[in-house]
Amino acid sequence: MSDIDIEQYKISEEPFYQPSGNEIDQYEAAYAARLPVMVKGPTGCGKSRFIEYMAWKLGKPIITVACNEDMTAADLVGRYLLDADGTRWLDGPLTTAARIGAICYLDEVVEARQDTTVVIHPLTDHRRTLPLDKKGEVVRAHEDFQLVISYNPGYQSLMKDLKQSTKQRFVGMDFDYVPADLEAKIVAEETGINAGTAAKLVQVGEAARNLKGHG
Ligand SMILES: Nc1ncnc2c1ncn2[C@@H]1O[C@H](COP(=O)(O)OP(=O)(O)OP(=O)(O)O)[C@@H](O)[C@H]1O
Ligand SMILES: [Mg+2]
Repeated sequence: MSDIDIEQYKISEEPFYQPSGNEIDQYEAAYAARLPVMVKGPTGCGKSRFIEYMAWKLGKPIITVACNEDMTAADLVGRYLLDADGTRWLDGPLTTAARIGAICYLDEVVEARQDTTVVIHPLTDHRRTLPLDKKGEVVRAHEDFQLVISYNPGYQSLMKDLKQSTKQRFVGMDFDYVPADLEAKIVAEETGINAGTAAKLVQVGEAARNLKGHG
């Protein structure tokens, strides 16, 4: 649709991102082939920041959706609304992203129910389409559209996992906490504190992470 203001979804200022390997090149290769990407790793390791940075670097709009278990397919694709002028269709964030050619970042996608997650399937293979069943329309994804999901392995309950058929559609990118010297650099950059204090905070952080599994 032409009446969507794409600029509002663009990131105007360069986000600070400290690379720890060749993840930027990897992502650019995945984007060039418009492959859907799954970023995996523990909380706070920089997944969201990385995607935000890549959207800025590629100059593409980004639409982020925080997924939760109450989310329905309609929350992603859209629904009919009743207002003073009658019934009208309102695109959901996934549909908007497919139309304008945004990077659609589904955060914590594993929280969503599996019957919700399957709506992304036709967008993530050769079809690159999104059927809006209730509206009787099939949206063909814009050539710039890309789907990215985040996944925190081992963090959700065993009952909650992505279907194999969902997982296998994505290029996986593993993230983890960066080495202490890089982490200190990030802490100093983000907070403005001096290098010495940042290094001590990172030590405390590492010690706290090692308590994992000890309640
Ligand atoms: N490589 C990095 N470069 C710059 N900042 C980083 C980096 N990694 C982590 N950070 C900092 O850590 C904060 C948390 O990172 P982020 O929100 O990206 O984590 P996340 O992996 O998305 O976590 P969650 O799984 O909880 O959503 C960021 O706001 C940023 O301040
Ligand atoms: Mg995040």
